[in-house]
Amino acid sequence: MPALPTSESHETHDELTPAEQYQDAIVDLIRSLPTPDAADERYYQTVLKLFIRQLEACGVTPSEQLNEAYTELLMTSKMSQGSSKEASTAACFVNYFVNESDYVRLRESPNVISAHGSTGHRTWEAALALSDYIITAGLLLLGEDGQPPHKLVELGAGTGLVGLIAAKLDPTLEVILTDGDEQVVNNLRANIALNNNNRDNNNNDNDNVESLRPRISAEVLLWNETPVVANTDLVVAADVTYDASVIPQLVACLAQFADAGACSIIVAATIRSQETFQVFQQGCTTQGLTLTKLRSYNESTRHFFIPPSSPEVIIYKISNQA
Ligand SMILES: C[S@@+](CC[C@H](N)C(=O)[O-])C[C@H]1O[C@@H](n2cnc3c(N)ncnc32)[C@H](O)[C@@H]1O
Repeated sequence: MPALPTSESHETHDELTPAEQYQDAIVDLIRSLPTPDAADERYYQTVLKLFIRQLEACGVTPSEQLNEAYTELLMTSKMSQGSSKEASTAACFVNYFVNESDYVRLRESPNVISAHGSTGHRTWEAALALSDYIITAGLLLLGEDGQPPHKLVELGAGTGLVGLIAAKLDPTLEVILTDGDEQVVNNLRANIALNNNNRDNNNNDNDNVESLRPRISAEVLLWNETPVVANTDLVVAADVTYDASVIPQLVACLAQFADAGACSIIVAATIRSQETFQVFQQGCTTQGLTLTKLRSYNESTRHFFIPPSSPEVIIYKISNQA
C-alpha cells in the first residue's frame, strides 16, 4: 500500500481531497507494477474491486482514475482469457497470516472446478471464519470436556486452510486433511509440502521439523462411503452444507464420527440459502445430532478479510443428542 499523501504531494494536487489523492496513489501504484500474469491480474482486479466497494460503503465516490484503472484491468483480463486456456486454470499462492510473522501458504486455482465438479480449489469465506474462530478460541476449548485434541480430521478440506492453521497452533496435533475429490487431495498434499518447506525455511531445528512431518497428511474421504478415521477427537469442516443433494451423506458421516467416541465436531456453515440450511438442520435432527451455535460472522474477522457482500457464516458445535 502506498503511504498516505504527504504535504509535498498536496502542493501538486491542490484541488484534490485527501481521499482522491489516496485513490490516485493506488492507481499510480497499480500502473507502475510489471505487466501482470493471469493470476496477478485477477488479484489486482479483486483488490481494486474490494477497494471500490469499501469506498462506496464509506460514502466516498470512487475517482474517475480509479474506475478507469479497474475497467482497464477488466478489459485486459477478458482479452487474455479469450486467448489463453491457462488463464482459467492458473494457480496462485496465497499467504494467510496467523499472526504478524507466521502464515499458512496455499496453492489455489480459483477458477478451477475439477472433473467431479469440486469447489475445493479455492479457500471459501467459511474457512476464513472457522480459522479465525480456532485462532481466537484456541484449540483447547474445542476439545471434548476441555481436553486438548490429539487427532483432528478436516472434512471437505478444499485447500486445507483450517487444518493447516490448527497444525500451526499445535505442532503436536495429528492433522488429517480429507476431501472426496482426488484432485483436491493432490492439491492438499502439495499444500502440506509447501508449509513444511516454509517451516524448513523458518526453522533451523531440522530434527524437530522431521518429527512433525508425519503428523499432517491428506486422504480421500467420501462422506458416508469411506470409513471414518479411528480415534479422532476433533472434526472440523467449512462450507460443506452448500448442496442439499449431498447433505444426507455429510450428516451420516458426522453421526459416524460422533458415535465413534469422544469427538468434538465444529462446522462453519455459509448461509447462502435458508432452504438448503434447513435441509442440513433437518438432517442433523434425523441423525440424532444437536446443533449449538457458537458464533456468527457477518463481516471481516479479526485475522482475515471477508468481503462485506459475503453471506453470513455460522459456526456450530455438533453433538449427539443427550
Ligand atoms: C465449498 S468447498 C469448501 C472447501 C473448504 N472447506 C473451504 O471452505 O474453503 C466444499 C468441499 O467439499 C468437498 N466435497 C463435496 N462433496 C463431498 C463428499 N461427498 N465427500 C467428501 N468431500 C466432498 C468438495 O470437494 C470441496 O472441496
